[in-house]
Amino acid sequence: MSVGKTLAVLLGSGLLLGAAHVSAAPTATMLANTCAGCHGTDGASTGPATPSIAGNSEVYMVDTMNAFKSGERPSTVMGRIGKGYSEEEFKLMGSHFAKQPVAKTSQKLDAAQVKAGSKLFGKNCEKCHDEKGGLADDDSGILASQWLPYLQYSMVDFKAGSREMAKKMKKKVDKLSDAELDALLQFFASQQ
Ligand code: HEC
Ligand code: HEC
Repeated sequence: MSVGKTLAVLLGSGLLLGAAHVSAAPTATMLANTCAGCHGTDGASTGPATPSIAGNSEVYMVDTMNAFKSGERPSTVMGRIGKGYSEEEFKLMGSHFAKQPVAKTSQKLDAAQVKAGSKLFGKNCEKCHDEKGGLADDDSGILASQWLPYLQYSMVDFKAGSREMAKKMKKKVDKLSDAELDALLQFFASQQ
């Protein structure tokens, strides 16, 4: 087949167009796929130290990625990963994850702790983590059904001051004992 004919056949079959598309700007799905190795398919993590990110609001995702990128929020790996993407790409990825259903995590929890946490939740955390930590629109991150070890690491960072808390969250957290905070985290983790 001559070069001209080959080109005509490829164009006709759409193969060349397909190749041209790949080298163009990445789509939201392509970007989100680069996160799947750690955060699971569509943001539903299977490892307890890596958070599920499905169902978070786009605003939360963009703010969080910027905080990792600038170093404002401490991290083991996300600071480096964040530096590889632009604001526009954060928005694309954020819009993709915002459309995914909140991941349901099955993990072993202490029923008595979950119950104790449910009693502390309304007065201390509901205002900003509404619907038992499952409301995306409050832009505070989805806590419902999140991995408990991840929530516990987050609380350690908050209490150590290396990750900044919202002022009114800090006021509540400072008043609670470690046991009460752990009960609250178990309560959030237990949501299905
Ligand atoms: C190498 C594994 C790895 C990859 C790849 C990865 N992450 Fe992460 N991610 C983590 C870990 C671990 C954390 C916890 C923070 C830390 O220690 O870096 C995290 C935390 C996050 C959080 C915070 C969640 C919350 O509830 O506040 C967001 C958002 C996030 N990652 C988004 C992404 C996006 C978007 C991508 C793809 C561009 C991505 N991650 C790729 C491992 C990874
Ligand atoms: C005044 C509002 C407010 C209150 C009250 C509040 N929080 Fe938060 N919380 C936030 C915001 C905003 C974030 C997101 C912080 C960020 O972007 O780093 C957050 C994040 C968190 C995270 C980390 C989520 C993640 O995915 O990394 C945990 C855990 C948490 N809160 C627990 C609690 C608990 C437990 C209470 C009740 C004692 C509480 N919060 C009360 C506003 C609040």
